[in-house]
Amino acid sequence: MATFKAPRGTADTLPSDQPHWEFVRRHGEDICQRYGYRRIDTPVFEEAGVFVRTIGQDTDIVEKEMYLFKDRGGKEMSLKPEGTASVCRAYLEHGMANLPQPVRLYYLSPVFRYERPQAGRLRQHHQLGAEALGEVDPVLDAEIIDLAWRFYLSLGLRGLSIQVNSLGCRQCRPAYRQALVAYFASRLGEMCPDCRSRFDRNPLRLLDCKHADCIAVGDAAPRSTDYLCPECSRHFDSVAGYLNLWELSYNLNHRLVRGLDYYTRTVFEIQPLEEGSQSTIGGGGRYDDLMGEMGGRPTPGVGFATGLERIVRNLQRQGAALPAASGPRIYVCYLEEAREEAFRLLAELRRGGVEAVAAVGGRSLKSQLRQADAQGMNRAIILGGDELRSGILMVRNMRNSQQEPVPRGRLVAFLRGLSG
Ligand code: HAM
Repeated sequence: MATFKAPRGTADTLPSDQPHWEFVRRHGEDICQRYGYRRIDTPVFEEAGVFVRTIGQDTDIVEKEMYLFKDRGGKEMSLKPEGTASVCRAYLEHGMANLPQPVRLYYLSPVFRYERPQAGRLRQHHQLGAEALGEVDPVLDAEIIDLAWRFYLSLGLRGLSIQVNSLGCRQCRPAYRQALVAYFASRLGEMCPDCRSRFDRNPLRLLDCKHADCIAVGDAAPRSTDYLCPECSRHFDSVAGYLNLWELSYNLNHRLVRGLDYYTRTVFEIQPLEEGSQSTIGGGGRYDDLMGEMGGRPTPGVGFATGLERIVRNLQRQGAALPAASGPRIYVCYLEEAREEAFRLLAELRRGGVEAVAAVGGRSLKSQLRQADAQGMNRAIILGGDELRSGILMVRNMRNSQQEPVPRGRLVAFLRGLSG
C-alpha cells in the first residue's frame, strides 16, 4: 500500500527545527508587544467574500490561489490566504472603532495559497503580522516599517533592504493608471506572455514582473510618485520624514506595487539584497479603503506581514547561532532492582521543574547511557542497589563523564542550579 506524504507545498516542522521557530516567534511577539501591539487570533477560514472583496478580483490570490470550499450549509468558505482582511473583519465585528484609536494588533497564523511550490514558496506558510487600525497618521506607516526592520535586526538577519513606494489613492491613481496603460500599450510586444495577458485587467502588476525583458520596460515606466495628489504627496513626504528621523535607510522603488489590490498610498517590502519574488521576506502598506470595501464604515489601516519559513531559511543559511536552551536535560538510568525508585524520582524531578526522562524498554545500564548521549542529554542520574541503600545518587556529566555524588533530598535544588 502506498504510504502518505505531507501535501505538496506543506512542511512538517520537526523537533530539530523548533529552536529556530521558537526563537523567531518569541522575538516577533516581544517586539510587537514592545511597540504596543496586542495579539489577536482569527479563524483559519472565513467566508470567501472577506478576501474576494478586499484582495481584489484581478490578483493571483483571488484568481487562482485560494483554497475554496463549500461548507455543509452551502456557504462559500476560504482558508485564510492572508491575515489583514480577517483582522479588519474582526475589528468591524467587535466594534473596535469604539476603542481608543489606533487599535494596534498582531497575529501569528498559518496562511494558505495554492501556489506553485518552490524553495521559499509554500502552499501553507506562517505569518507574523501587525496592523494599526483607525488612524491615517503617516507616523503609523513609519512605525510599521520600523517595527518590521527592528524585528529582523533583533534576529541577527543581515543583508536586507527596505523598498518603499506610494501608490496614491482613489483620487490620483486613475490618472497614473492611464499613464501606465498608454506607456505599456506601446511596449507590450517586448513583454512576457503573463504581462500581455495581465495588461487589460491589472496594468500596475506589469511593474513588478521579474522577467528580465519586463524589468527593463518597467524601469522606464511612469512613476506613481509623479502622479500623487497633494494629500498623498504630503503623506508620503511625512512618512519619509519619520523614516529619516529614526535613521532607517530605504530605497524609493517605483516598481514596487505588491500582489494585493487593497493598498493605498504607502507600500513597502523588506528584501534580501539578492533579487527574486520568493525571497521577499516581509511586506505591507496602507489600506484606507479596505474596511469600506468589506461593507464597514470606511476606516484607515496600515500593516505588514512576514513569512516565518523565509526568516528561518535565511537564519539557517546564515548559520545564525541561537541562544542555548536554559536548563539541563536529565536522563534517569537504573538497574532493574531500582526501577520503582527511578520512576518515583522521575516524577519528583518533573514536578520540581526539571526537564527529565527515564530510560524505558529494559535496556542494560551501558545501553541506557548510550541513549542518553545520543539524545543530547546534559546529565544522567544512575540508580542501582547502592544508591537505594545510601540515598546518595550519582549525577554524571555527559560531556566529560565526571560523576558527582548528590544526596537524594538535595537533587532537585542541585539540578535546578546547573546552567546546562
Ligand atoms: P504578502 O506579501 O502577500 O502580504 O505576504 C507577506 C509575507 O508572507 C511575504 O513577504 C512572504 O515572506 C510570506 N509569504 C507569502 N506567500 C508565501 C508563500 N507562498 N510561501 C512562503 N511565504 C510566503 C500579505 O499577506 C499582507 N497581508 C501583508 C500586510 C499586512 N499588508 C498590510 N498588512
